[in-house]
Amino acid sequence: MLLQGRKALVTGASSGIGRATAERLGQEGASVCVNYYSDKEADDAQAVVRSVERSGGTGLAIRADVGDEDAVVAMVSQAADRLGGLDLLVNNAGIEKQIPLLEMSEKDWSAVIRTNLTGAFLCLREAAKVMAGAGHGVVVNMSSVHEFIPWPGFAHYCATKGGLKLLMQTAARELAPKGIRVCNIAPGAIATPINQFVLDDPEAKHAVESEIPLGRMGQPEEIAAAVAWAGSDQAGYVTGTTIVVDGGMSLYPKFV
Ligand code: BGC
Repeated sequence: MLLQGRKALVTGASSGIGRATAERLGQEGASVCVNYYSDKEADDAQAVVRSVERSGGTGLAIRADVGDEDAVVAMVSQAADRLGGLDLLVNNAGIEKQIPLLEMSEKDWSAVIRTNLTGAFLCLREAAKVMAGAGHGVVVNMSSVHEFIPWPGFAHYCATKGGLKLLMQTAARELAPKGIRVCNIAPGAIATPINQFVLDDPEAKHAVESEIPLGRMGQPEEIAAAVAWAGSDQAGYVTGTTIVVDGGMSLYPKFV
């Protein structure tokens, strides 16, 4: 097992990549705090907690809006208290919504920045304080191929993923002397609820698949596997970089 006895916090862990990641970390021997956003997700979060506990670790669900500073401060301190420390933060919570640039309101823009970028910063800052005290820790941010591929209709989303790149790289430099590694995982198109609008539309799904050399969308478990590795000692020399897990999407297969 890659993470025996480790203590992890996964944000946005009631569904999709976050859920698969929390469950996989549990299978690798970790105790996991399962963060979720709203009451609607409470039952799903509890199901993830039970899955972690079936693997033998402690599971704990905490509701918090990652964009709310007070809520993040409280969540990280509660997670560290209840789990007995914090070795791994997975900044996974994220939202996306297609809006043409010229119709994008400040509210649309700010909502995405708040969750995807400010949320990652707040969780990173608070978790890294705990990790710095212990002299070790790992932060893994869920980025995207849109950390480097522009995506019309998603300017706010792309801005957050590009922002996560330099946040990660700067944090990696600043925190290395404290024994903390920081890296990003950049998934391509993964079959999760964030993509429901594509999964529900056969034509759109086909269009996405035609942009992927491996010819299919990825599964959340394929991202969870990369997080488990990046968070483990096997990746002990990996920091300040983005690990792309995209079936080859970033090879621009349509460019001939
Ligand atoms: C988005 C997905 C999209 C994928 C590839 C991800 O960041 O969340 O909706 O399919 O990038 O474009």
